[in-house]
Amino acid sequence: MCGIVGVIGKADATQVLLNGLDKLEYRGYDSAGIYVNDQNGHDYLVKRVGRIQALKDAVGPEVQGTLGIGHTRWATNGGPTEANAHPHVSNDGRFYLVHNGVITNAASLRQQYLTDVELHSDTDTEIVVQLIALFAAQDQLDAKAALRKTLQLLHGSYAFSLIDRDHPEALYVAKNKSPLLIGKGDGFNVVASDALAMINETDQYVELKDEEIVTLTKDAIEIETLAGDKISREPFTVVIDDANVGKGTYPFFMLKEIDEQPVVMRRLVEKYTDGHGNVVLPEALLAALKQADRLYIVAAGTSYHAGLVGKPLFETLAGVPTEVDLASEFGYHIPLLSKHPFFIFLSQSGETADIRQVLVKIKALGHPTLTITNVGSSTLAREADYCLELHAGPEIAVASTKAYTGQIGLEALVAQGLGIAKGNQKAAEFDAAHQLGLAAAGQQALIDQKDRLHEIATDMFKTTRNAFYIGRGTDYYASLEAALKLKEISYVQAEGFAAGELKHGTISLIEKDTPVVAYISDPVTAAHTRSNADEIAARGGKVLRIASASQATDEDQLVVNDIDPLVSPLLTIIPGQLLGYYTSVDRGYDVDKPRNLAKSVTVE
Ligand code: F6R
Repeated sequence: MCGIVGVIGKADATQVLLNGLDKLEYRGYDSAGIYVNDQNGHDYLVKRVGRIQALKDAVGPEVQGTLGIGHTRWATNGGPTEANAHPHVSNDGRFYLVHNGVITNAASLRQQYLTDVELHSDTDTEIVVQLIALFAAQDQLDAKAALRKTLQLLHGSYAFSLIDRDHPEALYVAKNKSPLLIGKGDGFNVVASDALAMINETDQYVELKDEEIVTLTKDAIEIETLAGDKISREPFTVVIDDANVGKGTYPFFMLKEIDEQPVVMRRLVEKYTDGHGNVVLPEALLAALKQADRLYIVAAGTSYHAGLVGKPLFETLAGVPTEVDLASEFGYHIPLLSKHPFFIFLSQSGETADIRQVLVKIKALGHPTLTITNVGSSTLAREADYCLELHAGPEIAVASTKAYTGQIGLEALVAQGLGIAKGNQKAAEFDAAHQLGLAAAGQQALIDQKDRLHEIATDMFKTTRNAFYIGRGTDYYASLEAALKLKEISYVQAEGFAAGELKHGTISLIEKDTPVVAYISDPVTAAHTRSNADEIAARGGKVLRIASASQATDEDQLVVNDIDPLVSPLLTIIPGQLLGYYTSVDRGYDVDKPRNLAKSVTVE
């Protein structure tokens, strides 16, 4: 993961870098650093272990300049120490480098070229900067040529930003697989892992493709391929409402984002229907979808869980067999594909490396692709044939909430739109806009019970080491996501299970007071799941039953409104999210930045 920023031509370069890193902190927060040069003989390198705040506290008023690079780190090679923090500097003190990605042949490059060079960190990045310095000195190369020579040797993923201290009139950047955008300003230029980081500086961005090198001066952006061919590319405009980026009076972004879900539902209806309940999708996308004999939904983490809910939606409403796959598995074990496959990539960030490697392979095979994402300027958005945006507003908390419900909402709209286009009766009977309206109202009713959910969280999870969630069908899918919400931010070992599978092994884990959440919302399976909950209670488990209004009995502690079972996770996940949130709060953790995680997973 990691986030990188760079700037040239701004008098307040330090502030631009620190502001940018603040916005990129979601990509990793093990350490952070900046290198700033005033292009007049003074320069500064400041690095700190921990959050961006620790770096800000360490940056004194003397750290001023017009050129600089910065980095926030999610440790891959080497632990989270100051020595491993970026920027890394070559031993001759000439080159400063920040890097997002993983160089897989770093060890052999070291062996081949750097046996006599003393290293000061355990990172692959230091090997790269020492190589650049070696080639510059040995072959009398300028910075760009030395960078190019080095890039030609590298295997793996990278987004680099490089400064040559001896020639501080330019900033060099290059990318392969890891995301990177150039921001174009008036008399200055910037670089960032995503547009959000620099949106206060400019809304004009230039896309950078794999294996390109860019030389930035304050007035020019010069793009070329690794082979040296010049490329001209127009900027595009990025629209992000920066007002949405703050957390206002909320203690954590996650709570704000949970609260925003009803608005996200309504906005999807606004963006993807004509106001009379008819779904409106781009013609070309619809035509391509109609050709498909099988849909493949490929995603990771929470987005994968949203994809699971997509399967019954597409199969029921559009009548198309649908397979849902983990991107990290699919790309390396591509199954036998149907004759006319259509690929849907679900990704909040639009940057997940596991997904991108699948997209690249699928495009090479010539199959049509759609990205559903929250970030319209992201790599997956740009590289797929079609893109639909969630319009959920920036999701900052590492634990995904509104993107999950947004993805399910949009899947419902696309499935209905496709079903109608194919003349499928089930699609005509399902009113996605109405269901999303019900979802918004039902979500609000649950959000309004926050205090109650906090009490339940304290009672069930405050001191437990493990917890289980069970359900069947879409309730099972919600169980998987609810368990992920609890485990990732409160560090309780939580697992979601298909309720019917309990008796096939899992029930042996139940002891006195083991917390189990049972989702009982689907009329078809409610009675069975209820029996499973009873079986757990009979063995001493502490059961929280969450039922839909039409299925609820007096023993159920929490009731969610009725909604079509195809989209029930839009409601059932809200208590799951809030239980995870309050457990993390009760345990005193930083809810938005759980340990070891990063929001955007840009390494495979
Ligand atoms: C969990 C979470 C992750 C992401 C996963 C995929 O709360 O946020 O599991 O869902 O890393 O990320 P995207 O959706 O950006 O591709």
